[in-house]
Amino acid sequence: MKDLIKRITEVFGPSGQESKVVELIKAELEGHVDEMYVDIMGNLIAHKKGPGKKIMFSAHMDEIGFMVTHIEKEGYLRFTNIGGHRPWTLKGLRVIFDNGVIGNIDCHSDTKPNELNYDKLFIDIGAKDKAEAESMVKIGDSCGFYNSTLANGQRMIGNSMDDRIGCVILIEAAQQVKSSPNDIYYVFSVQEEVGLRGAKTSAYRIHPDMGVALDVTPTGDTPEGAKLNVKLGDGTAIKVKDASVIAHPLVKNFMIDVAEKNNIKYQLEVLTAGGTDAGAIHLTKEGIPSGTISIPCRYVHSPSEMVDLNDVKACVELVKGMVAIDIAQILD
Ligand code: CO
Ligand code: ZN
Repeated sequence: MKDLIKRITEVFGPSGQESKVVELIKAELEGHVDEMYVDIMGNLIAHKKGPGKKIMFSAHMDEIGFMVTHIEKEGYLRFTNIGGHRPWTLKGLRVIFDNGVIGNIDCHSDTKPNELNYDKLFIDIGAKDKAEAESMVKIGDSCGFYNSTLANGQRMIGNSMDDRIGCVILIEAAQQVKSSPNDIYYVFSVQEEVGLRGAKTSAYRIHPDMGVALDVTPTGDTPEGAKLNVKLGDGTAIKVKDASVIAHPLVKNFMIDVAEKNNIKYQLEVLTAGGTDAGAIHLTKEGIPSGTISIPCRYVHSPSEMVDLNDVKACVELVKGMVAIDIAQILD
């Protein structure tokens, strides 16, 4: 699993540019599902046919990033954000474009941290002037954090754990689930970081009887951190609420039940901000009972997001445990 996590987190894929992630996942799922297709938005939908009700899992393929808005005459790139960043944390970070061009985010050395915003920051790709920069990147090109993913025992550190680690969990589950009483849709969604957009169209098309998002959640276990219940290494997190969804009690209790019966380590999560694909799925058509399996993650939306492999494995077991049960019994 470490190898897959490293490969998938190092693939380029800011929101709207997920096709390289699609290719990697398709290769992993070949032979494990009945059909796979990419919809108009770019979502990869992997369908494992079963006789019963439809259950849709969704993990987003896109990562946060930046987009070039303007090129200065000296060759520096001005940029805007794709998804949520804290601009004062960006100075000194490396980024990579789809064509392999690498740059460094920086600012004038006199700029104070509290002044750091997108007007003060620029990306230096080492171009000597505007003409050379334009031969390397274009207005509207996007880039993501450039970092290699490392393992430190059971902890893995890298960028795009949000939410490629959710994709890994669905890949692992899909490879292991040979049959199910349910009709399973594994959705690898696009454009979550800019507003849950891929989940919205894929849920409309599939119209599942139950929706489950898989995404990272911040932990409350760092010094002077917010008082959050979730701790790295304490198991899968079953979401009760975030800013996008209040988990449907049937789905939340189903998850808790499966975790308890299968001895899967879990913790309950109440998040005061943020959202996941479940926020879009549960509002589809007349409403879909939905919930979220969260992967505890430190430093979400930084180049060094940290997850614990035992938590990741617990999430895989929870997905497997859920699809083993006929969800008609849960919903009726
Ligand atoms: Co995110
Ligand atoms: Zn996410």
